[in-house]
Amino acid sequence: MGKLSIRDLPEEAYRGKRVFVRVDFNVPIKGGVIQDDTRIRASLPTIEYLGGRGARLILASHLGRPKGKKIPELSLEPVAHHLSKLTGKEVKFAPDCTNAAPEIVSRLQDGEIVLLENLRFNPGEEANDPSFARSLASLADIYVNDAFGTAHRAHASTYGMAKFFDLRLAGLLMAREIEFLTKVRDNPDKPFVVILGGAKVKDKIGVISNLVARADVFLIGGGMSYTFLKAEGREIGNSLFDEKHFEQVKDLLSSYGEKIKLPVDHIAVKEVVAGAQKRHFEGDIEKGWIGVDIGEKTIKLYKSFLKGEGMIFWNGPLGVFEIDDFAHGTMEIARAVKEACENGAKVVIGGGDTVSAIHKAGIKDEELTHVSTGGGATLEFLAGVELPGIKVLTDRNG
Ligand code: 3PG
Repeated sequence: MGKLSIRDLPEEAYRGKRVFVRVDFNVPIKGGVIQDDTRIRASLPTIEYLGGRGARLILASHLGRPKGKKIPELSLEPVAHHLSKLTGKEVKFAPDCTNAAPEIVSRLQDGEIVLLENLRFNPGEEANDPSFARSLASLADIYVNDAFGTAHRAHASTYGMAKFFDLRLAGLLMAREIEFLTKVRDNPDKPFVVILGGAKVKDKIGVISNLVARADVFLIGGGMSYTFLKAEGREIGNSLFDEKHFEQVKDLLSSYGEKIKLPVDHIAVKEVVAGAQKRHFEGDIEKGWIGVDIGEKTIKLYKSFLKGEGMIFWNGPLGVFEIDDFAHGTMEIARAVKEACENGAKVVIGGGDTVSAIHKAGIKDEELTHVSTGGGATLEFLAGVELPGIKVLTDRNG
């Protein structure tokens, strides 16, 4: 069922109204400098849409995991400055969400913006504490959630406060994420190819189980692939192995083995450090060696499935791509999905590491069909979980 978005209200509905927008500005910051502002830019259309229609905007986000304590390095103040530059107008900053915020909000003029301090400095945020939720809700007339990346969390700002509002709207980013990921999950164009990598098996099991009926092939790589290879009886040397999920992986292979493709050759090292001596293994990996990338034969095999038709969903790098020496497989697959997109395939990418990988390969977000801002949220959505932050939004026909 569709959710009401900010576009569904008459244009004049926002003038003079205090609009609370939950955004996901959980971005990497080092020494006060934002390292990657993708998520901030992704919410600009919502901010500009509402601000341009006279809303008094209250933006709120978490940053990192301060666990209810005020940690100066996790302050959102640098984001307020950055947002001022991006929007071309002054973004005010409220140094806390409860004491300072009401006064600053009361002085906002139409079209003005305030960003609240990190919601998670208050223990009530993650605990979904009713009184914290109520105090956040008291700041505004309309509730908007544009924080798709945090929609899998039932926190005060993503869940608890929503019930205090008659109108709980999806922002433009949230609406776009729901649209594209619903297509991937429920009705993908065929052939439908899913590329899954990354270290953790447990994060991907739900996605495989939920998409398997509609997917034509899963191309597996990265740290998680070695648990799959071991389940097939391969030697994996000292590569990553997830014993806890081994039985589940065996079950997946015995039920859907024909759709699940595994690496046929590997690049391995004895120590996962830049400059380590690399060795190529076909089939089994010898004792003492750790798989860090897919080999050329696997790259060739996987590329043969990435054609200019149907739909491709990719989550998780295929090797330790952060280290240039082991990035080759991931870079090759990144270039292949971009080419497939140019030739007519719809390509959807999800997860912070995968987004970093495509950027490392010199690919821009606009060159792919959709680049999801979610990590865990995207995976849970595709695994068929109803995300709390989406569930609380007003149904379109409700
Ligand atoms: C993310 O980066 O995936 C979201 O911002 C959620 O962050 P969290 O995992 O700390 O809840």
